[in-house]
Formats: sequence, C-alpha cells, structure tokens
Amino acid sequence: MIPNSAVEEVRQRADIVAIIGELVALKRAGKDYKALCPFHEERTPSFYVVPSKDFYKCFGCGASGDVFAFVRQKLGLDFAAAVRYVAERSGVDIREREVRDRGEDPYRELYEVNAFAREFYRRQLWEGEGGDVARRYLEGRGVGREAAERFGLGFAPAEWSALRNAAAKHGLDEALLLRAGLLKESERAQEPYDRFRDRLMFPIEDGMGRVVAFGGRVIGPADEGVPKYLNSPETPIYRKGTVLYGLSWAKVAIRRESAALVVEGYMDLVSLAARGIEPVVATLGTAMTDEHARLVARYCSRALLLYDSDLAGLRATFRAGDALLAAGVHPSVVTLPAGDDPDSVVRRHGVDALRRYLAEAVDVLDRKLQILEERGAFTTIEGTRDALDRLLPTIRCTKDAALRDIYAARVAERTGVRRETIEAELLRGVAAGSRGGGRPAAAPRGRIGPLPRLGPERKLLLLLVKARDWIDRAVERLHPEQFGDPALREIFEALVADPELKHPPPGMSPGAATRFEELTGDPEILAQADRIFDDSVRKILVRDIDARIADVDRRLAEAAESEHSRLVLEKQDLARAHRELDEDWRPTARRYAQTGLPRLQP
Ligand code: UTP
Ligand code: MN
Repeated sequence: MIPNSAVEEVRQRADIVAIIGELVALKRAGKDYKALCPFHEERTPSFYVVPSKDFYKCFGCGASGDVFAFVRQKLGLDFAAAVRYVAERSGVDIREREVRDRGEDPYRELYEVNAFAREFYRRQLWEGEGGDVARRYLEGRGVGREAAERFGLGFAPAEWSALRNAAAKHGLDEALLLRAGLLKESERAQEPYDRFRDRLMFPIEDGMGRVVAFGGRVIGPADEGVPKYLNSPETPIYRKGTVLYGLSWAKVAIRRESAALVVEGYMDLVSLAARGIEPVVATLGTAMTDEHARLVARYCSRALLLYDSDLAGLRATFRAGDALLAAGVHPSVVTLPAGDDPDSVVRRHGVDALRRYLAEAVDVLDRKLQILEERGAFTTIEGTRDALDRLLPTIRCTKDAALRDIYAARVAERTGVRRETIEAELLRGVAAGSRGGGRPAAAPRGRIGPLPRLGPERKLLLLLVKARDWIDRAVERLHPEQFGDPALREIFEALVADPELKHPPPGMSPGAATRFEELTGDPEILAQADRIFDDSVRKILVRDIDARIADVDRRLAEAAESEHSRLVLEKQDLARAHRELDEDWRPTARRYAQTGLPRLQP
C-alpha cells in the first residue's frame, strides 16, 4: 500500500499536462489545454486539462478527475498502479516507502512530534515566563496576537532542555525528536539538547498544513557569530526547496487574486499578513527552485517578486523569474528602496506605500532590459551581443507561447537585432547552443550511433532525390545538423546546395557518394509523397530531440547542484518541443486515417 503522504507528494509533483499529453494530443487553449476526448467519439474537442486546478474534464461525456483518475481510466490501471505510473514520470521514488510501510504513514510520528513542539512553543510565548520579551518584540514589529496566532508563532525558552523535558513528560520518544531535528547531539554534551533556545519560533507547514520544520529568530539584534535565523535541518519530511513558507495559509488568497507576492523572509510574510496583505509566500532566503515555481503555478498565473534590491537580491530575482516563467507563471519585479525589505517598508511607511511599489512592478524581462540599459550595455556592439546572451535564456524558458512571442519582439526592439535573428538564436539554443558551451556541437551525436536514425533519413532523401521540389520544404523544416548519419547529412547538404544534382559532386566523401548513387538508382516508386515527407521529417526531429534529452540526462547525472535547474529547464524546453511536434503532426495522421490510408505508426 502506498501511504497517503506519498500519494500527495506524487500529486503535487506531477505535471498533469505532461502526463496526459503523453497519451492524448493536447493543444493549448489559453491557460488550459484541449483535445479530442479519449473516452468518447467526437469531432470537435471538448476534453480540457486545467493545470491550475490539476484536473481534466470532458464537456461531452462528463469524464473528469485528477491525474490519477485519468491514468486509471485511460490505461485501465488500479489506483496504486496509477500512482506508481505517475510517480515514475514525476521523479518521485515511492518504492522505498512502500517497503517500510504497512499501510500507515511512516512519517506520522514525525508530524506528531512537530505538532507537539509547535504547541509547546506557542504556549511558552503566550503563557510562559520568558515569553514576555518575545511578545514585546513581536509587538514592536507590529505583529499583534491575531496574526501571530494565525501563523502559530511561538517562543523557545532560553534553556537547554525545556522541550526535551516537556516531550519526555508527554511520553514522546527522544529518538523521534532527534529525527525531527528538534534536539541535537554533540560530542561535548552528554545528552541531546534543544536545538532552538531563546528564539522566536516560526513553524513551517507543507501544502497540507502539517508542520514539517521550524525557523527560529533571535529576539532582537543577533550577536556576532550567532545566526539571526536558525532553521531545522533536512529531515525525512522536510526538503529545502520544496516548501514555500506561508503557502498553506495564503493559497486561498492567491487563487482569489490570481497572483502571489513572493518575499524572502519569515518576518516579511508575517508582517504583511498582519497588515492585511495575504497572498504572500516566502522562499526563506534560498533561491526559488523549479519545485517552488510549480507550487506557485498551481494557484495563480502571476507573481510579484519582492526581493532585496542589492546585487544578490537581483540575482535571486532573475533566477526566480526564470523558474516561474518555465512553470507558466508571469513574474514582475517590485523594486523597493535600497536597504528596505517588504516588512521595513510597511513598518516605516505603511501599507499604502508598499501598494504603490506593487503598482509599479515591472515585467521581469523589462526589468532585465532596464538594468542592462542602465549599465550602458547597448552602447557598444560587444555589449549588445553580451546582453542578448543574457536575455535569450529568459525568453527560451518561457512556457507561455504568447508571452514568449512578446518577449522576442521586445528584445528585438530594444537591441536592434532583427526578430528573425532572435528566433534563429532561440532555436539554436535548444538545438546546440545550450548544450554546454553555447557552440553548435556535432560531437555528441556520434555517441547515439547512426543506426536507429537511418530509416526516416534515408526515406526522406529518397523522396528528395526523386521529387526535387520537396527540397525547399525540407530546408524549411530541417537543419543538416539534425541528420544523425554523417553520409546522409552530406547528401542533404549537397542537395540543398544544388537541387538539380545528378551525380556525386567532386569533394563528396566516398561513403556519401556511394549512398547517393544507391539512392538515385533505387527503383522504388514513392506514393503519398506528402505523407512520407511529414512522417520522415517528424521522426528525424523527434529522434533528434530524444537524443538531446538523453544528452541532458547524462549531463544532469554528472552536473553540480548549481547546474541542475538550468539543465532541468533545458529538458523542459525539449519536452515542450517534443509535445509541439506531436501536435503538429497528429491532425495529418488523423486525416489520413480517415481517408482510409494505412495508419501511421507514431
Ligand atoms: P534577512 O537577513 O533579509 O532577514 O534574511 P529578514 O527576513 O529581513 O529578517 P528580519 O526582518 O531581520 O527579522 C532573509 C531570510 O533568510 C533566511 C531567513 O529565512 C530570513 O527570513 N535567513 C537569514 C536564515 O535562514 N538564516 C540567517 O541567519 C539569516
Ligand atoms: Mn527584515
């Protein structure tokens, strides 16, 4: 049996569009996707996938449900098998948990011990003797009891074993507190001791409102060498980069406003909430990960980034921007005065001042352009070239097709680089440029080996040799680079250079020359040229993308942590290109299927 927590994790991490898109040819329809319903016969699409709500619905036959329901219905799997199917495609490993588990959540006790600690800290804040300093500190920061209670804030007494003793009295296993990161062991101390002492406590909840970790702030200014905030270590129920602080409280407001404010700190969030600004989440001083971004995308399509305006803050802003764009969220940047954060703005100047800054939010790509312009990037040729290289990745990772188009137009306008050139650069990035150093790389192709690519490549060339008017159309769809077989690539290049070519030109390699003669001498008569053309081009492109995905996977396996999100973005780009190819192609396939010609193999 798969524990509920694992099922939830799979559900959270699953990309319903990708999973259904593998089984049904989805077409974008605004923020949603539509298709001919796979569960009943129809001629116009009434099957919709709604990623923001994580469900699908057919308005024709009424079929609807979540990602698991779809997989069950489409593939005829039982629930557990459907969860496993989705888990495999979402990078969640549920096997380990299944073995250990006998039907109940193996982490239940960890959640329970955290819930106990939250209640313990809470009571210390409001009832405990030492709590008054912390209460006054909160008051001084403009956080009243109502807001503090809403976020379950607490106080960890300035003792080595306050929590430890309380837990023992309650009959809780010490090993459990250690595992939850609430106690610490050290060689010097004989016994485990409380990790959090003399700190204002912030429970961190997961999307379902369970306490998975804590943050603790020193009361007042931090002494030298003492971290201002102390956070729980990673535990079986807490992985940094997967939890957004405040989301469990803010998600209703975020959905209502269809936008989220993203801040850096605990106090920013609590302070804004205390003043009535609710749709806020915090990344807690770490970079926004792709997983964070996908969480945001579940609830809204717009995000306002309120990070520090210093250099580190800007870097974090743009990293968050790219992650959000890739998740299909449209980010804007709010610029606060230097040295301020959202909490200090509302405290010193009031909520209206913050609202004014929010109203002046600038689209993330526009903000990038502004900054580049301020630095004089566009005054020299070299600078413009560099600037373009900084802008392209942002356009490239943008999931929303319309936004991507607007961005390309905007960059063309501001850099003076022609739109077509930008489009070509964007494609090149996916094709070769982003594969490592930004240079077209033919070498990795060799590793894939030409054999499996022979079929469609040879077939297409046969068509081009016999019906030369197809050559122009092939040039539009394919780059010679995309041929896996070097000899066939050479032939393609030769045909592009001279569409009338009858014999191997001087300088053609002997291998290619032989293949060329073999092609021109092939007596096969090609019926249905357009079908052969579409089919071969698509197969060549798909194999090319598959090879690149495999290449990214290889690099992912070896890459440093810091490279991961970039590679994952690259992979998402490729997956999208893959999906779009399927979309292009299916209508043709269906047309032939309907006119009684043999069905194409996908
Ligand atoms: P900041 O240093 O900007 O603090 O760190 P802050 O949020 O403005 O905190 P206040 O207003 O002084 O109370 C931003 C975030 O980075 C993390 C915390 O999540 C913090 O909210 N951080 C910062 C740590 O985890 N440890 C630290 O020592 C400092
Ligand atoms: Mn602050």
